[in-house]
Amino acid sequence: MAKIITESTGKFGQHYPKIAAIITASAHGKDNLMTAAWHSAISYNPPLYGVAISPKRFIYQLIMESNEFGINFIPLDKSLLAAQVGGISGRGTNKFQKFNIKTEEPIKTGVPILKEAYATYECKLVDNTTYGDHAWLVGKIIAIHFLEECFTNQQVLNPSKINPLLCLGTEHYVTLDNNSLHFIGKGG
Ligand SMILES: Cc1cc2nc3c(=O)[nH]c(=O)nc-3n(C[C@H](O)[C@H](O)[C@H](O)COP(=O)(O)O)c2cc1C
Repeated sequence: MAKIITESTGKFGQHYPKIAAIITASAHGKDNLMTAAWHSAISYNPPLYGVAISPKRFIYQLIMESNEFGINFIPLDKSLLAAQVGGISGRGTNKFQKFNIKTEEPIKTGVPILKEAYATYECKLVDNTTYGDHAWLVGKIIAIHFLEECFTNQQVLNPSKINPLLCLGTEHYVTLDNNSLHFIGKGG
């Protein structure tokens, strides 16, 4: 099959799928959450995690005020939640109330922990650099909440126990095919 070769990048959606994570923050008594597909681990030591957030987002303002954010990983059956909180701004709406979202207590920060998440990172903001129309916010992971049964003892996700929520762009969601799981040692 022939490849298209072009300098018109458009939305360059070729790099999906990505995990659709839910970012949480709280400042001055206001809680908020939004969906983010553009995020990544960037260092083991110290444990750093980055997320690209447009400064237009209400959550950006809350993170700037609190210097904290949460990264919540949810399963495929909660894709409606990702579409809901990624579809409207919390500037004029309390999304936790509107969508009846349940939370648990953080241990090191003030960020809401989603009850429906199979894993959450509590992060302290350590860097904020603007690249184009998004800010790359780097957080140091200072606490982790996770469901033990969803991971191996080496903290590898077990796809027979959990279907992580992946997205293909803005409005299509998928998950892993557990039948595709196979092991190849380093170096083959
Ligand atoms: C699947 C999905 C992925 C998204 N990824 C990002 C992202 O990586 N960064 C970002 O700034 N916005 C992203 N958004 C958009 C925000 O979630 C959306 O604008 C949200 O309503 C912002 O809420 P807020 O104004 O309450 O902060 C995504 C939305 C969806 C549905």
